[in-house]
Amino acid sequence: MKVILRSYALSDRTGLIRAINAVCGEGLWMSTSRFEPTPAWEHALADPNCGCHLLLLAVGTNAPVGWCRVFREPDVQGTVASLGIGLLPIYRDRGIGTQMAQKALAWAWSADVERVVLRTRRDNHRAVRVFSRCGFYVTDEAGEGWVEMACDPPALRAGRSNASIGLERVLRLPVVSVADRERTWL
Ligand SMILES: CC(C)(COP(=O)(O)OP(=O)(O)OC[C@H]1O[C@@H](n2cnc3c(N)ncnc32)[C@H](O)[C@@H]1OP(=O)(O)O)[C@@H](O)C(=O)NCCC(=O)NCCS
Repeated sequence: MKVILRSYALSDRTGLIRAINAVCGEGLWMSTSRFEPTPAWEHALADPNCGCHLLLLAVGTNAPVGWCRVFREPDVQGTVASLGIGLLPIYRDRGIGTQMAQKALAWAWSADVERVVLRTRRDNHRAVRVFSRCGFYVTDEAGEGWVEMACDPPALRAGRSNASIGLERVLRLPVVSVADRERTWL
């Protein structure tokens, strides 16, 4: 099964939505049972070239089989972004999700994002493993089996082990609650 990772293009819209609906329809991982696009999602689908977001696809023979997106969150400084990711079942456990998440984080740090946040089910052990491997850590409980996770830029992560270097920047980062029920964590 050959899969390539590339940016979303307008012609991918139908296939991507089909893949998202398939993952949502499993009823296990996402907060909605079908794609319910937020304004940020609508913007990403309509304007692939806008630099404010990343929408990365995993593409199989003919169509998208997965996605990873990073959308800036409307915090005070515009420095926090959220990440969402999904793959069709038969493409899981092949390292694709890890690769997509790592690329997404690299994009975020290059775009001066200072924290990437996400929300996942606590019992989604595969996702938690991937996110932890990429540097995410649990920041909060989000009720009903959900947890919030965050990832900081590599320089800041290194700083955490050397309190004198990193603490000041950590403290000035905005506290962002990602438990907004209106949001689709796709
Ligand atoms: C989460 C997801 C994107 C991860 O992508 P992926 O390509 O399957 O992940 P990878 O293959 O890179 O890594 C999976 C890891 O989880 C491990 N794993 C699989 N099932 C597991 C389980 N039940 N418990 C613990 N670890 C598990 C794998 O062994 C692998 O770790 P390893 O590389 O150390 O062996 C993908 O599985 C997915 O789309 N899941 C459904 C949707 C979803 O959960 N999205 C995230 C919602 S926040």
